[in-house]
Amino acid sequence: MKKIILFLAIALIGFVACQDSTEDVLVEQQSKIDMSNFYAFTDEGTDLLSKSSNSRNCQSMKVLNRQLNENPGLFKKMYDIEYNTRKAIAAKGKPGGGGGNGNGGGGTPDPVPYVGAITIPVIINILEDNAGDVTQAQINSQLAILNEDFNNNNPNTGNAPAEFAGLVSDVNITFTLAVVNRKISTKSTWGTSNAMKDVGQGGIDATDPSTYLNLWVCNIGGGILGYAQFPGGAAATDGVVIGNDYFGETSGVYGDGRTATHEVGHWLNLRHIWGDGRCRQDDFVADTPSSDRSNGGCPTYPLVHCKSADMTMNYMDYVYDDCMYMFTDGQNDRMRALFVAGGAKASFVGN
Ligand code: ARG
Ligand code: ZN
Ligand code: CA
Repeated sequence: MKKIILFLAIALIGFVACQDSTEDVLVEQQSKIDMSNFYAFTDEGTDLLSKSSNSRNCQSMKVLNRQLNENPGLFKKMYDIEYNTRKAIAAKGKPGGGGGNGNGGGGTPDPVPYVGAITIPVIINILEDNAGDVTQAQINSQLAILNEDFNNNNPNTGNAPAEFAGLVSDVNITFTLAVVNRKISTKSTWGTSNAMKDVGQGGIDATDPSTYLNLWVCNIGGGILGYAQFPGGAAATDGVVIGNDYFGETSGVYGDGRTATHEVGHWLNLRHIWGDGRCRQDDFVADTPSSDRSNGGCPTYPLVHCKSADMTMNYMDYVYDDCMYMFTDGQNDRMRALFVAGGAKASFVGN
């Protein structure tokens, strides 16, 4: 008799479970995406290294803080992009992956991060003192470097320590030269106010950011190498700005064109490798080790912070151009999550 009651009880539980309304299933699914660690604002004072002299102090986060203050809707946009990114990455990990539907039928499967080659046409907007100051060789070498770095062809990648070698990712994004716009300007420093993106302020307007990466080359000033706008920002200011001395193959420790690699990483939603905070503040990438600071120069492995070796050779740290040579598989997924239907960069692949 006890057995029969137990059986009935189990059957009843099963029956009730199957009665879940679609809404319940949705709520249950949503609750699986943990957004509790999401942040957009960063404390510019927390980078331990930024107090020392060799810090690059990337302007992308400062510009983001400013834009979050100016634009009340931006946080929500970035939150939604993050939610969809996490959903796509979670879908990839589900049993039966590749779009596998874990929701018990009825719904469409969650998309996984975009699979396959991606081509990004680039518009280069140059503001220079004299025509041709920014040379064709700089333009060509910059495209070549971006293509090396985003296709796992950086010649330095062979230096990856064993701990990280298996994480090196072929992002499989090709950048093609679409248009070069040149404008003579006597303005000596452009700063980070986005004036270079506005014809009304002497700059050059962006060209269709839904299908082109707009890259501005100008003298930013203040020792700033470059800055990018994160996905979710206004179309008129979408893209990447690179200082003319750091654009393409030039000279010095930042003369190998990797500022563009780093900034395009931000443009494709990558955060700094250390997460712009202390040990527990993450870059939202599972396979990059936690750290509490940026690293500069050309560190010797292992450089341990937060109880693990920092991935200083990642494009999203602040090391010299010659000392950065990898994106991870986790960063690749994060970038590719933008290209699924409804994603912030879906229009680049006709989604
Ligand atoms: N936005 C950073 C800066 O202005 C870029 C750092 C890029 N790092 C590099 N090695 N190029 O300092
Ligand atoms: Zn940066
Ligand atoms: Ca991480």
